[in-house]
Amino acid sequence: MCPHGYSAYGRFVSDRVFDVLRCELIPFADAVELQGTGESLIYGKFFDFLKLVTESKCKVTLITNASLLNKEILVALCKAGSDIVVSIDAAESSLYSQIRRGGDLSTVLGNLEYWKYIRHSIYNKASLGINMVLCSLNAFKIIEMIDLAEKLNADYLFISEIRQCTLDDANWKRLNIEELRRSEEFQEYVRKVIEYAHRKKVRVQFNFQKRMKAIDVKRNICVSPWEHIYISVDGDVSLCCALSQKFGNLNEISFSEIWNSELLNDFRKKMATGHYCSDCLACCLPWGITHC
Ligand SMILES: C[S@@+](CC[C@H](N)C(=O)[O-])C[C@H]1O[C@@H](n2cnc3c(N)ncnc32)[C@H](O)[C@@H]1O
Ligand code: SF4
Repeated sequence: MCPHGYSAYGRFVSDRVFDVLRCELIPFADAVELQGTGESLIYGKFFDFLKLVTESKCKVTLITNASLLNKEILVALCKAGSDIVVSIDAAESSLYSQIRRGGDLSTVLGNLEYWKYIRHSIYNKASLGINMVLCSLNAFKIIEMIDLAEKLNADYLFISEIRQCTLDDANWKRLNIEELRRSEEFQEYVRKVIEYAHRKKVRVQFNFQKRMKAIDVKRNICVSPWEHIYISVDGDVSLCCALSQKFGNLNEISFSEIWNSELLNDFRKKMATGHYCSDCLACCLPWGITHC
Protein backbone atom coordinates (compact mmCIF):
# COMPACT_ATOMS: atom_id res chain seq x y z
CA MET A 1 0.00 0.00 0.00
CA CYS A 2 2.86 2.34 0.51
CA PRO A 3 3.03 5.53 -1.61
CA HIS A 4 6.80 5.23 -1.72
CA GLY A 5 6.73 1.50 -2.30
CA TYR A 6 7.76 1.27 -5.95
CA SER A 7 11.22 0.00 -5.04
CA ALA A 8 12.30 -3.42 -3.80
CA TYR A 9 11.68 -4.48 -0.18
CA GLY A 10 13.72 -6.56 2.23
CA ARG A 11 16.64 -4.23 2.93
CA PHE A 12 17.93 -2.98 6.28
CA VAL A 13 19.87 0.05 7.48
CA SER A 14 23.60 -0.69 7.05
CA ASP A 15 25.97 -0.83 10.05
CA ARG A 16 27.65 2.31 8.74
CA VAL A 17 24.37 4.27 8.76
CA PHE A 18 23.54 2.85 12.19
CA ASP A 19 26.90 4.20 13.44
CA VAL A 20 26.17 7.65 12.01
CA LEU A 21 22.82 7.58 13.84
CA ARG A 22 24.48 6.41 17.05
CA CYS A 23 27.41 8.81 17.09
CA GLU A 24 26.41 11.88 15.10
CA LEU A 25 22.64 12.23 15.04
CA ILE A 26 20.65 10.62 17.89
CA PRO A 27 22.69 12.23 20.72
CA PHE A 28 21.69 15.66 19.35
CA ALA A 29 18.13 14.93 18.20
CA ASP A 30 14.95 15.94 20.04
CA ALA A 31 12.72 13.42 18.28
CA VAL A 32 12.94 10.41 16.01
CA GLU A 33 10.11 9.11 13.87
CA LEU A 34 10.32 5.55 12.55
CA GLN A 35 8.15 5.69 9.46
CA GLY A 36 8.14 5.59 5.68
CA THR A 37 8.36 2.46 3.59
CA GLY A 38 9.03 -0.76 5.45
CA GLU A 39 8.48 -2.07 8.93
CA SER A 40 10.86 -1.10 11.75
CA LEU A 41 10.02 -4.11 13.92
CA ILE A 42 11.67 -6.55 11.51
CA TYR A 43 15.01 -4.74 11.86
CA GLY A 44 17.42 -7.00 13.76
CA LYS A 45 18.91 -4.05 15.69
CA PHE A 46 15.55 -2.55 16.68
CA PHE A 47 16.23 -2.99 20.41
CA ASP A 48 19.72 -1.49 20.12
CA PHE A 49 18.14 1.46 18.35
CA LEU A 50 15.45 1.85 20.99
CA LYS A 51 18.07 1.71 23.76
CA LEU A 52 20.05 4.39 21.98
CA VAL A 53 17.14 6.78 21.64
CA THR A 54 15.88 6.25 25.18
CA GLU A 55 19.36 6.82 26.62
CA SER A 56 19.51 10.07 24.67
CA LYS A 57 16.08 11.05 26.04
CA CYS A 58 14.89 11.41 22.50
CA LYS A 59 11.15 11.24 21.81
CA VAL A 60 10.22 8.26 19.61
CA THR A 61 7.28 7.85 17.26
CA LEU A 62 6.86 4.41 15.77
CA ILE A 63 4.47 3.74 12.90
CA THR A 64 3.96 0.01 12.67
CA ASN A 65 1.63 -2.66 11.38
CA ALA A 66 2.03 -4.22 14.89
CA SER A 67 2.30 -7.76 13.51
CA LEU A 68 5.53 -8.23 15.49
CA LEU A 69 4.69 -6.02 18.43
CA ASN A 70 5.06 -7.88 21.73
CA LYS A 71 4.91 -7.19 25.45
CA GLU A 72 8.66 -6.51 25.71
CA ILE A 73 8.65 -3.98 22.86
CA LEU A 74 5.46 -2.32 24.16
CA VAL A 75 6.96 -1.87 27.63
CA ALA A 76 10.21 -0.47 26.19
CA LEU A 77 8.28 1.94 23.94
CA CYS A 78 6.04 3.01 26.80
CA LYS A 79 8.99 3.59 29.12
CA ALA A 80 10.44 5.85 26.44
CA GLY A 81 7.17 7.83 26.37
CA SER A 82 6.74 6.91 22.72
CA ASP A 83 3.92 7.66 20.35
CA ILE A 84 2.90 4.29 18.97
CA VAL A 85 0.89 4.54 15.78
CA VAL A 86 -0.63 1.29 14.56
CA SER A 87 -1.89 0.99 11.02
CA ILE A 88 -5.25 -0.76 10.95
CA ASP A 89 -7.46 -0.24 7.91
CA ALA A 90 -10.49 -2.32 8.91
CA ALA A 91 -12.06 -3.67 12.08
CA GLU A 92 -13.18 -6.85 10.38
CA SER A 93 -10.67 -9.67 9.69
CA SER A 94 -11.40 -10.50 6.06
CA LEU A 95 -11.52 -6.86 4.94
CA TYR A 96 -8.32 -6.17 6.91
CA SER A 97 -6.53 -9.04 5.11
CA GLN A 98 -7.92 -7.94 1.76
CA ILE A 99 -6.37 -4.49 2.21
CA ARG A 100 -3.22 -5.57 4.06
CA ARG A 101 -2.23 -8.67 2.15
CA GLY A 102 -0.54 -11.18 4.43
CA GLY A 103 -1.70 -9.34 7.55
CA ASP A 104 -3.83 -10.91 10.24
CA LEU A 105 -6.06 -8.70 12.37
CA SER A 106 -6.39 -11.14 15.26
CA THR A 107 -2.58 -11.29 15.60
CA VAL A 108 -2.41 -7.48 15.68
CA LEU A 109 -5.21 -7.19 18.26
CA GLY A 110 -3.61 -9.95 20.36
CA ASN A 111 -0.29 -8.05 20.26
CA LEU A 112 -2.01 -4.88 21.44
CA GLU A 113 -3.84 -6.62 24.29
CA TYR A 114 -1.13 -5.72 26.84
CA TRP A 115 -1.45 -1.99 26.02
CA LYS A 116 -4.65 -1.77 28.08
CA TYR A 117 -2.80 -2.92 31.20
CA ILE A 118 0.05 -0.49 30.88
CA ARG A 119 -2.02 2.42 29.53
CA HIS A 120 -2.69 4.03 32.88
CA SER A 121 0.32 2.69 34.72
CA ILE A 122 3.51 4.58 35.42
CA TYR A 123 4.27 4.83 31.71
CA ASN A 124 1.49 7.32 31.15
CA LYS A 125 3.43 9.57 28.77
CA ALA A 126 3.10 7.10 25.91
CA SER A 127 0.24 7.26 23.46
CA LEU A 128 -1.44 4.88 21.04
CA GLY A 129 -2.92 6.09 17.78
CA ILE A 130 -4.66 4.14 15.04
CA ASN A 131 -3.86 5.06 11.46
CA MET A 132 -6.61 4.10 8.99
CA VAL A 133 -6.05 4.64 5.27
CA LEU A 134 -9.32 5.07 3.40
CA CYS A 135 -9.79 3.47 0.00
CA SER A 136 -12.90 2.39 -1.87
CA LEU A 137 -12.96 -0.90 0.08
CA ASN A 138 -13.26 0.57 3.58
CA ALA A 139 -14.66 4.07 3.00
CA PHE A 140 -17.92 3.23 4.78
CA LYS A 141 -16.33 1.21 7.58
CA ILE A 142 -15.20 4.04 9.84
CA ILE A 143 -17.87 3.58 12.53
CA GLU A 144 -16.55 0.05 13.16
CA MET A 145 -13.05 1.51 13.48
CA ILE A 146 -14.27 3.98 16.11
CA ASP A 147 -15.59 1.03 18.13
CA LEU A 148 -12.24 -0.70 17.73
CA ALA A 149 -10.28 2.41 18.78
CA GLU A 150 -12.48 2.63 21.88
CA LYS A 151 -11.94 -1.06 22.65
CA LEU A 152 -8.18 -0.70 22.29
CA ASN A 153 -8.12 2.36 24.51
CA ALA A 154 -6.46 4.30 21.71
CA ASP A 155 -5.85 8.03 22.08
CA TYR A 156 -7.00 8.84 18.58
CA LEU A 157 -8.04 7.51 15.20
CA PHE A 158 -6.30 9.21 12.29
CA ILE A 159 -8.04 8.70 8.95
CA SER A 160 -6.19 9.59 5.79
CA GLU A 161 -7.05 9.17 2.15
CA ILE A 162 -5.12 6.67 0.06
CA ARG A 163 -2.40 8.19 -2.11
CA GLN A 164 -1.36 6.63 -5.39
CA CYS A 165 0.52 3.49 -4.45
CA THR A 166 0.55 1.38 -7.57
CA LEU A 167 1.69 1.79 -11.15
CA ASP A 168 -1.24 -0.38 -12.20
CA ASP A 169 -3.77 2.24 -13.36
CA ALA A 170 -6.75 -0.12 -13.30
CA ASN A 171 -6.03 -1.02 -9.68
CA TRP A 172 -5.55 2.62 -8.73
CA LYS A 173 -8.87 3.53 -10.36
CA ARG A 174 -10.52 0.77 -8.31
CA LEU A 175 -9.00 1.89 -4.98
CA ASN A 176 -8.90 5.66 -4.98
CA ILE A 177 -11.72 7.70 -3.42
CA GLU A 178 -11.22 11.04 -5.16
CA GLU A 179 -14.71 10.98 -6.64
CA LEU A 180 -16.40 9.04 -3.88
CA ARG A 181 -15.39 11.49 -1.17
CA ARG A 182 -17.11 14.33 -3.01
CA SER A 183 -20.40 12.41 -3.15
CA GLU A 184 -23.33 13.49 -0.97
CA GLU A 185 -23.61 9.92 0.37
CA PHE A 186 -20.03 9.95 1.67
CA GLN A 187 -20.26 13.46 3.08
CA GLU A 188 -23.42 12.46 4.94
CA TYR A 189 -21.58 9.38 6.24
CA VAL A 190 -18.67 11.55 7.47
CA ARG A 191 -21.16 13.76 9.36
CA LYS A 192 -22.53 10.61 11.03
CA VAL A 193 -19.00 9.45 11.85
CA ILE A 194 -18.13 12.75 13.50
CA GLU A 195 -21.30 12.67 15.57
CA TYR A 196 -20.69 9.03 16.56
CA ALA A 197 -17.05 9.69 17.52
CA HIS A 198 -18.16 12.64 19.63
CA ARG A 199 -20.69 10.46 21.46
CA LYS A 200 -18.11 7.72 22.00
CA LYS A 201 -15.48 10.29 23.06
CA VAL A 202 -13.00 8.93 20.51
CA ARG A 203 -10.74 11.58 18.95
CA VAL A 204 -10.98 11.34 15.18
CA GLN A 205 -9.02 13.35 12.65
CA PHE A 206 -9.44 13.29 8.88
CA ASN A 207 -6.74 14.02 6.33
CA PHE A 208 -8.21 14.25 2.85
CA GLN A 209 -6.02 15.19 -0.09
CA LYS A 210 -6.28 18.72 -1.36
CA ARG A 211 -5.85 19.76 -4.94
CA MET A 212 -2.83 21.99 -4.53
CA LYS A 213 -2.21 25.17 -6.47
CA ALA A 214 0.71 27.57 -6.03
CA ILE A 215 -1.79 29.89 -4.40
CA ASP A 216 -2.20 27.37 -1.58
CA VAL A 217 1.11 28.46 -0.05
CA LYS A 218 0.14 29.47 3.48
CA ARG A 219 3.51 30.16 5.03
CA ASN A 220 6.78 31.30 3.50
CA ILE A 221 9.14 28.94 5.22
CA CYS A 222 9.12 25.32 6.26
CA VAL A 223 11.59 24.39 9.00
CA SER A 224 12.64 21.08 7.47
CA PRO A 225 15.72 22.30 5.53
CA TRP A 226 17.16 23.67 8.79
CA GLU A 227 15.80 21.30 11.44
CA HIS A 228 14.87 17.91 9.98
CA ILE A 229 16.62 15.03 8.34
CA TYR A 230 14.98 12.08 6.66
CA ILE A 231 17.11 8.96 6.17
CA SER A 232 15.91 6.09 4.02
CA VAL A 233 16.78 2.46 4.65
CA ASP A 234 19.42 2.78 1.89
CA GLY A 235 21.10 5.71 3.63
CA ASP A 236 19.78 8.35 1.23
CA VAL A 237 19.35 11.70 2.96
CA SER A 238 16.42 13.99 2.36
CA LEU A 239 14.51 16.41 4.57
CA CYS A 240 11.09 14.86 4.99
CA CYS A 241 8.98 12.01 3.66
CA ALA A 242 7.24 14.27 1.11
CA LEU A 243 10.38 15.39 -0.71
CA SER A 244 11.82 13.20 -3.47
CA GLN A 245 15.09 15.15 -3.76
CA LYS A 246 18.11 13.38 -2.20
CA PHE A 247 21.09 15.32 -0.87
CA GLY A 248 23.61 12.47 -0.54
CA ASN A 249 24.03 8.99 0.84
CA LEU A 250 25.39 8.22 4.31
CA ASN A 251 27.00 5.01 3.03
CA GLU A 252 29.20 7.13 0.76
CA ILE A 253 29.85 10.49 2.44
CA SER A 254 29.67 11.93 5.96
CA PHE A 255 26.62 13.59 7.46
CA SER A 256 28.41 16.94 7.80
CA GLU A 257 29.35 16.89 4.10
CA ILE A 258 25.69 16.38 3.22
CA TRP A 259 24.32 18.87 5.74
CA ASN A 260 26.74 21.60 4.59
CA SER A 261 26.66 20.73 0.90
CA GLU A 262 26.09 23.24 -1.88
CA LEU A 263 23.04 21.21 -2.93
CA LEU A 264 21.35 21.50 0.45
CA ASN A 265 22.38 25.13 0.94
CA ASP A 266 20.93 25.89 -2.47
CA PHE A 267 17.64 24.22 -1.45
CA ARG A 268 17.60 26.37 1.72
CA LYS A 269 18.27 29.51 -0.29
CA LYS A 270 15.41 28.70 -2.68
CA MET A 271 13.06 28.02 0.22
CA ALA A 272 14.07 31.29 1.91
CA THR A 273 13.43 33.27 -1.28
CA GLY A 274 10.10 31.65 -2.14
CA HIS A 275 11.32 29.47 -5.01
CA TYR A 276 9.57 26.28 -3.98
CA CYS A 277 9.91 22.88 -5.65
CA SER A 278 6.83 20.94 -6.82
CA ASP A 279 6.98 18.54 -3.83
CA CYS A 280 6.86 21.48 -1.39
CA LEU A 281 3.93 22.98 -3.29
CA ALA A 282 2.02 19.70 -2.94
CA CYS A 283 3.19 19.00 0.61
CA CYS A 284 0.68 17.38 2.99
CA LEU A 285 2.81 17.67 6.13
CA PRO A 286 1.48 19.88 8.94
CA TRP A 287 4.60 22.08 9.13
CA GLY A 288 4.92 22.39 5.32
CA ILE A 289 4.39 25.61 3.37
CA THR A 290 0.83 24.70 2.37
CA HIS A 291 -0.46 24.58 5.96
CA CYS A 292 -1.56 27.53 8.10
C1 LIG B 1 4.09 3.08 4.64
S1 LIG B 1 3.53 2.52 6.20
C2 LIG B 1 4.99 1.82 6.86
C3 LIG B 1 4.98 1.55 8.33
C4 LIG B 1 4.44 0.18 8.73
N1 LIG B 1 4.94 -0.91 7.99
C5 LIG B 1 2.91 0.19 8.72
O1 LIG B 1 2.32 -0.60 8.00
O2 LIG B 1 2.36 1.00 9.48
C6 LIG B 1 3.33 4.06 7.06
C7 LIG B 1 1.90 4.56 7.04
O3 LIG B 1 1.53 4.91 5.71
C8 LIG B 1 0.22 4.45 5.48
N2 LIG B 1 0.08 4.15 4.06
C9 LIG B 1 0.54 3.09 3.39
N3 LIG B 1 0.18 3.15 2.11
C10 LIG B 1 -0.51 4.29 1.93
C11 LIG B 1 -1.13 4.92 0.81
N4 LIG B 1 -1.10 4.39 -0.37
N5 LIG B 1 -1.75 6.09 1.02
C12 LIG B 1 -1.78 6.67 2.24
N6 LIG B 1 -1.21 6.12 3.33
C13 LIG B 1 -0.58 4.94 3.18
C14 LIG B 1 0.13 3.18 6.31
O4 LIG B 1 -1.20 2.83 6.60
C15 LIG B 1 0.91 3.52 7.53
O5 LIG B 1 0.09 4.05 8.53
S1 SF4 C 1 7.43 22.05 2.53
FE1 SF4 C 1 6.90 19.88 2.84
S2 SF4 C 1 8.02 18.80 1.18
FE2 SF4 C 1 8.96 20.82 1.39
S3 SF4 C 1 10.66 20.48 2.81
FE3 SF4 C 1 8.91 21.20 4.01
S4 SF4 C 1 7.93 19.34 4.77
FE4 SF4 C 1 9.26 18.74 3.05
